[in-house]
Amino acid sequence: MKEVTYEGHTFVPYIFRDAIDARIKELGKQIVCDYAGKSPLFICVLNGAFPFASDLFRASEGIGAQITFIRLKSYAGMGSTGSIKEVIGLQEDVAGRDVIVVEDIIDTGHTIAHLMRGLKEKGASDIKVATLLFKPEALEEPDVQPDYVGFSIPKKFIIGFGLDLNEQARDLNDIYVLKDQSES
Ligand code: IMP
Ligand code: MG
Repeated sequence: MKEVTYEGHTFVPYIFRDAIDARIKELGKQIVCDYAGKSPLFICVLNGAFPFASDLFRASEGIGAQITFIRLKSYAGMGSTGSIKEVIGLQEDVAGRDVIVVEDIIDTGHTIAHLMRGLKEKGASDIKVATLLFKPEALEEPDVQPDYVGFSIPKKFIIGFGLDLNEQARDLNDIYVLKDQSES
């Protein structure tokens, strides 16, 4: 089994690229059904969500979707810092728009809750959330319920396909889990 090591931590494969691709195609089909004729605005949360957003956006062909980007930062190392920094703000006017926020992973839910409050204040008419990964057991925000979920996973630290450990490993095509957590 292919292992990778970053900062002395070993990771093992967890979700393979084929399964990720297949799941994103399914989510795209669902979005195409739900948004026919609605031209939603995808908001990709950088940096982690960019591979997922790129694939999901193209899997949602035909509904006249648009895409924009925002950059938030809340994680340092393997844990949430509890404070959310907006590194790049939203440029588009979202008033009256149907918005789909695209995240790599929802962990405590603080990032997405913060973002949704901001989008509501800016007058978005409908806000849905698409996330590649969701850790339901880690959720600390009762109001956060993602609408499109790639994979629900236990509370484990993962990397790859956009997800990082201190900005490393985003380029991995598969998703990997910390070896110490791989069997529990
Ligand atoms: P939340 O605010 O706790 O939901 O955390 C969301 C952000 O933390 C995600 O967008 C990721 O950038 C990061 N994050 C959460 N869990 C993981 C993980 O297992 N691996 C890498 N990054 C993670
Ligand atoms: Mg993220």
